[in-house]
Amino acid sequence: MITPMPVVVLISGSGSNLQAIMDACASGKINARVCAVISNKPGAYGLERAKAAGIPTHCIDHTLFSNRDSFEAALSQCIDDYAPGLIALAGFMRILGTAFIERYQGRMLNIHPSLLPHFPGLNTHQRVLDAKHHYHGCTVHFVTQELDGGPPIAFSKLEVNSPETAETLASRVLVLEHKLYPTVISLFAEKRLYMEDNIAILDGEPLHAPIDITQIQTRKIS
Ligand code: GRF
Repeated sequence: MITPMPVVVLISGSGSNLQAIMDACASGKINARVCAVISNKPGAYGLERAKAAGIPTHCIDHTLFSNRDSFEAALSQCIDDYAPGLIALAGFMRILGTAFIERYQGRMLNIHPSLLPHFPGLNTHQRVLDAKHHYHGCTVHFVTQELDGGPPIAFSKLEVNSPETAETLASRVLVLEHKLYPTVISLFAEKRLYMEDNIAILDGEPLHAPIDITQIQTRKIS
């Protein structure tokens, strides 16, 4: 058994994905430990979740910095103090700059509430409804310079119901997120997943398209 990988989780809000990651670590489903949680929003409920789990928390409020570079310098200093093997963005609602992304390239993951490459950016649930797509879901990808466009790793999908609202879709997708993110983090922590030449590699095979979580489960690689 290799030493649990230290993971820093960045949040901006409720932190339900953070909770799923902490729970999976605590139950031994992921060979990792959340070593710190950092929020850019002072009131983020995720900070309370982390405190309740005895995990160090930090708030680095972006509004107190005069520009993106100084905010990100403070953020990376805080992250680097923990020497994490992985930085997991979990509802972290700030666009990150070039130098910051470069610094953590290959060890920073994000979960996005859509089936990428469809619907990068915000308001994904309403946009899915407006576009009358029949399927929706979430995707975990490596973070690169392209917003929500880094190498996708895995997705989980659902069928859009009728009737459905952006709110019902958001809560149904969140349930999928809570399973998908820990599953992908587990693969990364076991070093079965990494990024090379801007492609995600899983068990030695390049992922030219993201893998369905059900395939991960049936292949018994989670
Ligand atoms: C999730 O839907 C995530 O995909 C998106 O923001 C939401 C965060 O939810 N980027 P939570 O804070 O993890 O509850």
